[in-house]
Order: sequence, then C-alpha cells, then structure tokens
Amino acid sequence: MGCMRIADVQDDIDHELVSAEKIHAIIEHAAAQASEDYRGKDPLLVAVLKGAVNTLASFSQALSIPCQIDFMSLSSYGSGTVSSGTVTIRQDLSTDVRGRHILIVEDIVDSGRTLAWLVEELKRRGAASVEIFALLEKPARREVDVDVKYKGLEIPDEFVVGFGLDYDERYRNLDSIAVLKPAVYQGEQA
Ligand code: PRP
Repeated sequence: MGCMRIADVQDDIDHELVSAEKIHAIIEHAAAQASEDYRGKDPLLVAVLKGAVNTLASFSQALSIPCQIDFMSLSSYGSGTVSSGTVTIRQDLSTDVRGRHILIVEDIVDSGRTLAWLVEELKRRGAASVEIFALLEKPARREVDVDVKYKGLEIPDEFVVGFGLDYDERYRNLDSIAVLKPAVYQGEQA
C-alpha cells in the first residue's frame, strides 16, 4: 500500500519527531481507555477541521464501542503563525449536542485557546459532558488552561507537520509527524 513518507518530501523535512507506529500506539492506548469510559454512553466525537481529521479517523476506528462523529471548522489564527486569540465558527456541527457525551478529538493543543473556547461553547449548548483527547501538546506555547483527559505526547515548540498538521495546506498526508526545515517557511515569517 502506498503512502507519503518522509522520504517523499525529504528536502523539506529536518527530522522525524513522531513515527507512524508511535502515533498509532498513542491513539490505540487512548481509544482503549475511552472505550471503557464511554461504554453505553454513545459518545459524539467532535473534530476541529482540518488538522484533526487524520487523528479522528484513526481514533474512531480504534474504539471498540459505537460512536458518532461530527466536525466543526473554527478559525483561531490570523494569516500568520501567531494566534489572534479570537475564535470564530466557519462551519458548525450538524448534531444537536444537548444531553450528549462529547469527546473532542484534536491533533494539537498549542495556546489552548481553540479548545478552551470549544469546551465552553459545547457546555453552553447543553452537552452532558465534554472531554478531550489530544494527540500532541506544546506545553511551551500554552496560554490558557485546558483539561486534556486523554493525553498523547508532549512535544517541543518546533514547526511540525504531518498526520493532519500542515504548513500552507501541505504535508497533511504525511504518515508521521516531522519538523519542517526553517527554510521552507522562513520567507513568510516576517
Ligand atoms: C490548529 C489545531 C488546533 C489549533 C490549536 O488548527 O488543529 O485546532 O490550531 O491551536 P490553539 O491551541 O493555539 O488554539 P489550525 O488553526 O492550524 O487549522 P487546521 O487544523 O485547519 O490546520
């Protein structure tokens, strides 16, 4: 089976940070725990587009219980790489969350602003519970306190791409997570 690996974009990548095997081990571990915690609760998995799509696909397939999935498109960043602190809804859920047990599935928690806002918004809409699985966290960038129940991996504050994470909409289909060479984005960092 073919897939895009680091060797296919070698010139743009500095080094691999999290292998495909490690990513799937983290997801399977969290999904096993969530399968116990949510048994009989018919959880709704909520993913924030677009970065969390790969994580949601793998996580939902690793669950051993029934679940539903839904998506939201949020904007928390301006055009650059620095968070503006404001969250707006580009595309809303199609599910009524009242009384639902929600598990937000995220690729990365950076400042925490997107998730902090989303947790409050889902509670405001009447969700019975709201918890979070985050594949990656960048503790050095955290600005807002967010309670991540299912923790993945803490990573350093480097520009990472792959497994859903992009730079300028590219590299999302890389099968592992890798550090981008600064030369790739330096021209846009003014
Ligand atoms: C990323 C990521 C989270 C958010 C985290 O999405 O998927 O949703 O940023 O940042 P925060 O913790 O500082 O709020 P991004 O805005 O890059 O959009 P994308 O998922 O479409 O790439």
